[in-house]
Amino acid sequence: MAIKTVLRMGDPRLLEKAVPVAVFATPELHALLQDMRDTMAALNGAGLAAPQIGVGLQVVIFGVDANPRYPEAGPVPHTVLINPVLTPLGKEMEAGWEGCLSIPGLRGLVPRYKQLCYQGFDQFGNPIDRTVSGFHARVVQHECDHLQGILYPMRIGDMSRFGFVEELFPDNPPVAE
Ligand code: NI
Repeated sequence: MAIKTVLRMGDPRLLEKAVPVAVFATPELHALLQDMRDTMAALNGAGLAAPQIGVGLQVVIFGVDANPRYPEAGPVPHTVLINPVLTPLGKEMEAGWEGCLSIPGLRGLVPRYKQLCYQGFDQFGNPIDRTVSGFHARVVQHECDHLQGILYPMRIGDMSRFGFVEELFPDNPPVAE
């Protein structure tokens, strides 16, 4: 178990496409997930993708407990999602604030599909198939973008809605990542 250094925007490894996991339930995969959980917890993140700690595999974790300070942001079940496939349901987009552990101190207003279906596997190879909307759908899209080498600023439509969190939200910053 270890807290890893999270790569920051500008590191070329964040722009690479991750490769699928071929074998599940291995000690290496369990160790990777423990490192990801430890790192996400230490940084109070809502999610983390393996490429953010320098591992180019299609592995993401996410989860948000209900928090009365952020009624619009959860809860999202704690999930391990491997080799994900996202299928938007409809074309409706919704703008929401995002942050990223690889872009500390900043937030941006990002359009995302409002509703989607996601499929993939957990660390044991059990299939996952969920239909989600709202903040849950946003978190999945943000994390899975990391597997394609996409960071949220690349998705911002209006760059005037991108800035330092203390300036944008002096009182109550939105959940990051
Ligand atoms: Ni991120």
